[in-house]
Amino acid sequence: MLLRTTGRDDLKSIFSVHEQAFGGTEEARLTIELLADPSARPVDSILAEEESRAIGHVLFTRVRIQSAEDVAAAILAPLAVVPDRQGRGIGGELVEEGLNQLAERGVGLAFVLGHPGYYPRFGFQPAGIHGLRAPYPIPAEHAGAWMVRAFRDDILGRVRGRVACAETLDQEKYWVE
Ligand SMILES: CC(C)(COP(=O)(O)OP(=O)(O)OC[C@H]1O[C@@H](n2cnc3c(N)ncnc32)[C@H](O)[C@@H]1OP(=O)(O)O)[C@@H](O)C(=O)NCCC(=O)NCCS
Repeated sequence: MLLRTTGRDDLKSIFSVHEQAFGGTEEARLTIELLADPSARPVDSILAEEESRAIGHVLFTRVRIQSAEDVAAAILAPLAVVPDRQGRGIGGELVEEGLNQLAERGVGLAFVLGHPGYYPRFGFQPAGIHGLRAPYPIPAEHAGAWMVRAFRDDILGRVRGRVACAETLDQEKYWVE
């Protein structure tokens, strides 16, 4: 398996991976829109390929923490692995590679709204208790799904506020079930 940063020629493959993984086109369309959204930049867009077949993709886009302009931050969304390749660690490798790229360019915090049983293995922990609020309120029963990964020890607790995503992602429909 090969992991590589995507380019302009990969949009069809990226769309197809998300469509297959999610069984619909909503996340696929969101991903393509985010890749074209200037307010999402810089992005980290990584494709997993097996013998030239696209089998997984992860996208990290820029977020801003209101009241903390000095901390660069990103959000993981979405992550997808095609159904016949799930459960083999490919999703994990995509997440790790993305986090490595964020660390290399000095990002301080990475966020995700995801399964609390999956993301803690990559260093994510509940974000709300640190005063880092999701773009739209997460219902109490799902509060553990809003998570943050800190790349440096001095950030959590010091940096607080609402997390504002790229325009494409900062819409209530993506945050309220
Ligand atoms: C979630 C997903 C990306 C994981 O990719 P993967 O390559 O199968 O993941 P890995 O092999 O690295 O890890 C497998 C683990 O993911 C867990 N997992 C799989 N799908 C999951 C889901 N939708 N939610 C939470 N955990 C999930 C498995 O239970 C397994 O956990 P375990 O290691 O404790 O047994 C993939 O299953 C997928 O594309 N699902 C559909 C799209 C989706 O739900 N994306 C996530 C939301 S953005």
